[in-house]
Amino acid sequence: MATQARFHDRTVLVTGGLGGIGLACALRFAAEGAHLVLVDLRDDGAQAALDACRQAGAASAVAHACDVADEDRVQALCARILQQRGRLDVLVNVAGAMLFKPLQDFSGADWQHLLGVNLLGPVHFTRQWLHHARPGAAVVNVASVHALMTTPLVAPYAAAKAALLSLTRSTAIEGRPRGLRANAVVPGAIDTPMLWSNPNLASGAETLAPEDVGSPADVAAAALFLASDEARFITGSSLEVSGGRLARL
Ligand SMILES: NC(=O)c1ccc[n+]([C@@H]2O[C@H](COP(=O)([O-])OP(=O)(O)OC[C@H]3O[C@@H](n4cnc5c(N)ncnc54)[C@H](O)[C@@H]3O)[C@@H](O)[C@H]2O)c1
Repeated sequence: MATQARFHDRTVLVTGGLGGIGLACALRFAAEGAHLVLVDLRDDGAQAALDACRQAGAASAVAHACDVADEDRVQALCARILQQRGRLDVLVNVAGAMLFKPLQDFSGADWQHLLGVNLLGPVHFTRQWLHHARPGAAVVNVASVHALMTTPLVAPYAAAKAALLSLTRSTAIEGRPRGLRANAVVPGAIDTPMLWSNPNLASGAETLAPEDVGSPADVAAAALFLASDEARFITGSSLEVSGGRLARL
């Protein structure tokens, strides 16, 4: 198979880049020659992730520890990346977090934390990207089926992911005159530690057939397509990657 390098010379920033879906996305962009910037709250596993990106074909790969909810840190980090790389082409907002509680037990601090990671993180990075992106640049936001339908115990997460789809539309319409695109992927159940830590699965409140569980690579394939020039006429949309779970009655 001929090697494709659709992201040759492009700088691709992936938040949550050390996690299941984020790392899978990073590896797909790496295989197409991108310069990778991995951003994550933690730094354990950074060296292994960078080695894997380089082995996959990345033109370069760096990792930065940063809380996506911290606007000042995000701004400083983006300034540094622009100084080093000179451009920021693709932004993949993957970092996310969940907490499981009855709605009446979520405190204001819980809401701020969950909206901070799942919604304001993408807002902060999108703002920096909008300031610096050139025509042809693209954002991909990783939302969730919880943006559309949900289960008990995850109200702030579901609200944040629904708002992330709205942010995607706003980014698309405001970016369009400048040739900038924004889309979302809407994953269903994906085989990562985040899925199996869901107490709704342990309690039986939520059940999953084996065919309902996808892999991080399934989400990465969709993100790569939406970020590529092949999707040049696609913006403001969301692509469900759930094995058809939401299509059933
Ligand atoms: N796994 C699923 O079933 C599933 C389904 C739908 C949507 N998603 C979404 O996909 C994304 C990735 O999830 P995953 O399953 O790979 O989970 P994961 O826990 O493996 O990865 C999440 C990553 O985000 C990082 N992160 C968390 N808080 C952060 C912060 N404040 N700042 C920077 N980084 C932070 C974590 O360190 C981790 O590396 C999330 O947005 C999640 O909501 C996952």
